[in-house]
Amino acid sequence: MCVRESRRRKEVEVEKSRSNVPSSVINPSPALVSTNQSLRESPQRPRRQARGGGGGGGLRSSLSSCGLDILRWPQQQWQLFPLVQGFSGLKAAGSVSCQSETSFLGKERNAALRESFAPEAREQSQRFRNRLQPRASSFKVAVLGAAGGIGQPLALLIKMSPLVSALHLYDIANVKGVAADLSHCNTPSQVLDFTGPSELANSLKDVDVVVIPAGVPRKPGMTRDDLFNINANIVKTLVEAVADNCPEAFIHIISNPVNSTVPIAAEVLKQKGVYDPKKLFGVTTLDVVRANTFVAERKNLKLIDVDVPVVGGHSGITILPLLSKMKPSVSFLDGEVEELTMKIQNAGTEVVEAKAGAGSATLSMAYAAARFVESSLRALDGDGDVYECSYVQSELTELPFFASRIKLGKKGVEAVISADLQGLTEYEEKALEALKPELKASIEKGLAFAQKQPVTV
Ligand SMILES: NC(=O)c1ccc[n+]([C@@H]2O[C@H](COP(=O)([O-])OP(=O)(O)OC[C@H]3O[C@@H](n4cnc5c(N)ncnc54)[C@H](O)[C@@H]3O)[C@@H](O)[C@H]2O)c1
Repeated sequence: MCVRESRRRKEVEVEKSRSNVPSSVINPSPALVSTNQSLRESPQRPRRQARGGGGGGGLRSSLSSCGLDILRWPQQQWQLFPLVQGFSGLKAAGSVSCQSETSFLGKERNAALRESFAPEAREQSQRFRNRLQPRASSFKVAVLGAAGGIGQPLALLIKMSPLVSALHLYDIANVKGVAADLSHCNTPSQVLDFTGPSELANSLKDVDVVVIPAGVPRKPGMTRDDLFNINANIVKTLVEAVADNCPEAFIHIISNPVNSTVPIAAEVLKQKGVYDPKKLFGVTTLDVVRANTFVAERKNLKLIDVDVPVVGGHSGITILPLLSKMKPSVSFLDGEVEELTMKIQNAGTEVVEAKAGAGSATLSMAYAAARFVESSLRALDGDGDVYECSYVQSELTELPFFASRIKLGKKGVEAVISADLQGLTEYEEKALEALKPELKASIEKGLAFAQKQPVTV
């Protein structure tokens, strides 16, 4: 045996004993890199939060969090491919295979080497597969307002989740075509369409998560509150149907003004006698997504590492990114915090103006909402480390509803994370106090609306 090969074998033995890795997990393929997010958010990820910013890590920590480690073995072409034929979804699904014939060791030696590794590799690979394959549990998700600007791309993203078995698309019009189109994607979930009030109840039967992007979006010059008169009624009607047909479901409210539509939904559910505050969420994920993007750009950070908690509400100054609490910890120059805060607060308006009358944020919103859906499904599926920001019933401040980081579990909100509001900077303290009157007024407006028009029980 030549010296080089003997050294090579020794290295292999050392590396093999050092890790519990199936020896096939060595050089990740680009395909694997693209599933990094899925892997990173896999249920086995120990002690790493599914943070607002999508967590941190990278490929190495993704794999090590699954009990794996990446070894450096240049030129060897063992590869890790997504298992599922076609798209593997937002959740991890992986399988190990190896293509070692082109290795510098040569075909025969490689075969012998592989043989010596084979039993252990097979066993470990099976264990790995068991951990990362789609779970047996799968969920029904309904999107109400599914034919709209947000509804359509959101439905597409949800269709890609291996945790979803059925996707119910409801709208007052145009949803048949959306469902027909989407149903041709070769992902496991079944797509069903429901049009108009007569089909609303059926769209909600046995549903686990209901997402509501129904309603009108802003036009240039409008505030979110200007949408109140139309959207308040839409949300009220839809949530009444949720109360009647799937009162146990997680309810994600996207329709604006979220600061008011969530209190409306809470009041409707209360009147129906089925209110569970742990299961009602205002979707503020887009504020976190934007904050992460803008801060990473400004500070030249790897996006995947950035996590900015955003608290308060979802409109203008009620959107409060807590830059002093972001991960990684970053120092800002004078004026930078204020500038970034305003950029995050006005990001929705920037899109409304750029679209010049053709609507508000739809694609980034769909992306953010899909992330929140996936987090909810992971929580329902039993993952123990799911954290997101959301606008929920809260005791963190004197306001009855407040957006903050929450821990999600099988029964909804498991904990409201209070630590983010402790030790704020002077700027953040002032901004927090400044947002309270506006948020309070929006909450009261929503509650008053719902109380004035009681539901039929
Ligand atoms: N939470 C957020 O961060 C966020 C971000 C962007 C937009 N939004 C809000 O989301 C909502 C939807 O925005 P969009 O751009 O998708 O609007 P859109 O007009 O493109 O789509 C709305 C859809 O809702 C449907 N709809 C209307 N009334 C309905 C009802 N009673 N039942 C079922 N469906 C109904 C419409 O037919 C349409 O298909 C708006 O209120 C917008 O302000 C929220």
